[in-house]
Amino acid sequence: MKDKIEKLLKDAGVAYEFIPLPEDLPMDVPSHMNFYKDTLEHALATMIYKTEKGFIAVSRRGDTKVNSKKLRKFLGIKRLSLATEEEMKSLGLTPGLVPPLGHSIPLYFDQKLKDIDYFFDGTGHKLFGLKMRVDDLLKVDKATIGDFTIYDELSTLKIKRVLSGITPSGSTLHLGNYAGAVKPQFDLLEKGVESYYFVADLHALTTIQDKDQLEKCIINNVFDYIALGLDPEKGIYFRQSDVSEHSMLAIVLANYVPFGLTNRMHAFKDKLAKGVSKENINMGLFNYPILMAADILLYKPDGVPVGEDQRQHVEFARETARSFNKAHGAIFPIPEALIQKGYTSKVIGTDGERKMSKSLGNVVNIFDDEETIRRQIMGSYTDPNRKHPTDPGRVEGNPIFIYHDIVNDNKEEVEDLKKRYREGKVGDVEVKEKLFAAHMRKFAEARKKRKELENNIDLAREILEKGAEKARKVARETMKEVYEVVGITNKLSRQ
Ligand code: ADP
Ligand code: TRP
Repeated sequence: MKDKIEKLLKDAGVAYEFIPLPEDLPMDVPSHMNFYKDTLEHALATMIYKTEKGFIAVSRRGDTKVNSKKLRKFLGIKRLSLATEEEMKSLGLTPGLVPPLGHSIPLYFDQKLKDIDYFFDGTGHKLFGLKMRVDDLLKVDKATIGDFTIYDELSTLKIKRVLSGITPSGSTLHLGNYAGAVKPQFDLLEKGVESYYFVADLHALTTIQDKDQLEKCIINNVFDYIALGLDPEKGIYFRQSDVSEHSMLAIVLANYVPFGLTNRMHAFKDKLAKGVSKENINMGLFNYPILMAADILLYKPDGVPVGEDQRQHVEFARETARSFNKAHGAIFPIPEALIQKGYTSKVIGTDGERKMSKSLGNVVNIFDDEETIRRQIMGSYTDPNRKHPTDPGRVEGNPIFIYHDIVNDNKEEVEDLKKRYREGKVGDVEVKEKLFAAHMRKFAEARKKRKELENNIDLAREILEKGAEKARKVARETMKEVYEVVGITNKLSRQ
């Protein structure tokens, strides 16, 4: 098998690497990935199934699992079962050592594979692993690509408590916030994970210095979250400044953070890149990651659900926790950044270039009036090489199809549009019109609820106050512990 694969790869002229493996390496995928010092998302697993139409090979990422209902629907079959050892042998395969190419049976690829650049897999030989690029594999194999897996939830099951903040800095939520942060946060809450979500008003001071504007932004954020379905009885939702321990912990943690690390943070570097001189950057912005580390560590969460742009800040919090723990013992658990896999971790903006962000004005908002949303969608970048509706277009990475994937629950319509787009049988306008309609359908209830809430500022305040009461209990305990280990014995630590 290994020689056959090598020949196929050589004939196709693609780059690949055969990696010698130790003899005593267990056969399971996690052990292999441990050996490669890489994560499960870069593992490719190929499974052989038996169907009423014969055998098939299905390749998926190591952090996903095949959803048999999805796969059966995709293939238009009724019966699906994993091939037995005997059946695999009859196909010349060894269980546990199935390579991703060189098969004589039809091969299916899960589309989540396209979100990674490279992968590791077997070669059919126990002592050799294979590393190559996904693009290259697609050049060698004639595989059919489809959507038939779901992410393996095992990793999130270990998560018991999560926390995340959102800076109330301007207009309301956009599709990037929704897909990258809000939706995953709500999903965790749904699963019963203890959740702390807060409006980071102290963080907003880095940009807003107008009292009325700040208040408006805060209240808007509450309306957005409640309208989208946050149940304040289930999740603890509060305002950062209502829990003074955030500020208190930031002051202590600052002593465990080297200047160099803070100096490398991107929020600060982005400002420099925009031409603001170092001399003029406010210290609030420079200290931003320290306050964020305090926000996180105060609640000792296992996970922090955020978008890709916040990864560096969560890493900073982890570093800070390690450094504090080194001096004072295991006070802070090291939290994981919980970042979506694939395109939703960093939803592209309507400029087709940068991540969707309110400060860049390349957004599709959720709660704006219909005309504004229509304008945002109609003005979105699509495939720049497509001049006429009859030109075949590119779907992958195309903002309007990414937005369809986020908002359009009519998956058949999305697949049909994608197919026709690739074939040059649909115009941009129709795709955008359908996107607008899907957006209106998806958020109809939330938009209606938000309108109803809009004048009920008292309700928003009440929700925040009740949330703060609950959050304070946890925050106070941590702060007491921190003061005690660093040696500040005052009224708080004696309480
Ligand atoms: P913005 O960049 O628009 O100001 P925020 O910084 O307020 O957004 O982000 C709030 C949350 O939404 C954060 O967890 C952030 O990582 C996430 N987020 C923001 N933009 C995107 C995007 N384009 N794709 C995915 N997640 C995003
Ligand atoms: N920096 C985050 C943003 O701009 C908001 C934030 C503040 C946050 N504190 C946090 C996120 C703590 C997660 C955890 O979106």
